[in-house]
Amino acid sequence: MVDVILGLQWGDEGKGKIVDFFAKDYDVVARFQGGPNAGHTLYVNDKKVVLHQIPSGVFHGGITNLIGNGVVLDPITLKKECDTVASFGVDLKKNLFIAERTHLILPTHRALDKAAELAKGNEKIGSTLKGIGPTYMDKTGRNGLRVGDLLDKDFKILYDKLKAKHQQLLDNYNFQEDISDWETEFFEAVEFLKQLNIVNGEYFINEKIKAGKRILAEGAQGTMLDVDFGTFPFVTSSNTTTAGVCSGLGIAPQHIRDVIGITKAYCTRVGSGPFPTELEDETGEELRKLGSEFGATTGRPRRCGWIDLVALNFACMINGVTKIVMTKADVLDTFKELQVCTDYNIDGTNTRQMPFQMERTKPVPAYKNFQGWNNSSSAANLYSNLPDTMKEYINFINGYLGVNIHYISNGPGRDQIIEVK
Ligand code: GDP
Ligand code: IMO
Ligand code: MG
Repeated sequence: MVDVILGLQWGDEGKGKIVDFFAKDYDVVARFQGGPNAGHTLYVNDKKVVLHQIPSGVFHGGITNLIGNGVVLDPITLKKECDTVASFGVDLKKNLFIAERTHLILPTHRALDKAAELAKGNEKIGSTLKGIGPTYMDKTGRNGLRVGDLLDKDFKILYDKLKAKHQQLLDNYNFQEDISDWETEFFEAVEFLKQLNIVNGEYFINEKIKAGKRILAEGAQGTMLDVDFGTFPFVTSSNTTTAGVCSGLGIAPQHIRDVIGITKAYCTRVGSGPFPTELEDETGEELRKLGSEFGATTGRPRRCGWIDLVALNFACMINGVTKIVMTKADVLDTFKELQVCTDYNIDGTNTRQMPFQMERTKPVPAYKNFQGWNNSSSAANLYSNLPDTMKEYINFINGYLGVNIHYISNGPGRDQIIEVK
């Protein structure tokens, strides 16, 4: 049995915290796509930790954590992350497993990401510059190197061959930066990675399924950053949606049970691209301040706006969401009035469908107004203690989406979450 937790917006919905919260009910937590562009924040013994590639179940003893074949892995980031996690007393030799088909991010992939973004000028995607796009390009272009290749005695030859290809592209971009330090770090990290558990991910996970183990697949980024269904080209390079679980872990679809979608009580986006409900005013600034909306990976300020039900409805459809978790409800505590986008107005006509693209159609959001709860919710631990105005907000969202919010997160802490019942 496999359940999925993924983001329904443009990332940073609070996946790390929610996976950590649910992890105790599972035997395996597995990442199925993305790479170190992700930044998943959780609190362990009141200490903040940001995970980029290691699944967010890692702080629970007895849980197996798998980095699946659909992930792109940077050994340098992994080594640093392992050091952090080990400092909490976690034995990664025992509970971290890496699929041999996982593609490797090389130093030249990071250089190519940077060079390509620079060349785009004003049209840049706002990539995290972690090498994600070029690594997935080498995967679909059938050039990439995988974790299993590290065990080949000729790995350095394979590496040099691919590096030479990359160098030609970098020369075309006239990229001059010296990346020899990254290479030194890369080869040190590779030696470290080789000591970890490298497994055949698809047999590994299917044997667990057969043995009746409970698997939690942890998404990175969010639905609107999916390479097929997001706001292309301002997206990441992988399938962030439920479909990505099958190809990113080697799991057949009939094993998937619940798809738990996470949305903030409002909406954020980091990087470029369309964001119809964005608030470029004092209210947006207030959301950023109260929600501490700064990127967990890059530190960039996140763009903030109202919740967008047109986009969320689309995300529920694409993912087959069965349960919703709404995070950061507490961030709205002091707002007197809230707005909820119910329709897009395109050329004078209202629609509830996602347009093919938003650059040219420029949808104008139509809003329904709600009274804010204007009350501190972060101390509440029972649904019955939450303000009626918050319940009205939640009930409206449930009705619109046809999928219910099952949990409300009301603070960053591990225990700040309320079951709706
Ligand atoms: P992820 O990428 O989806 O895991 O999300 P991030 O970790 O990038 O960003 C979510 C941020 O919100 C983190 O700083 C979390 O600690 C914080 N957070 C998560 N849930 C809540 C919540 O319910 N309330 C508040 N105030 N912060 C939250
Ligand atoms: P988590 O898992 C928010 C955004 C980048 C950029 C675009 C492409 O923490 O939710 P990439 O580095 O993939 O080439 O960047 O996608 N992006 C994210 N935004 N949260 C993330 O991950 C993101 N990962 C990538 O800002 O706009
Ligand atoms: Mg994040």
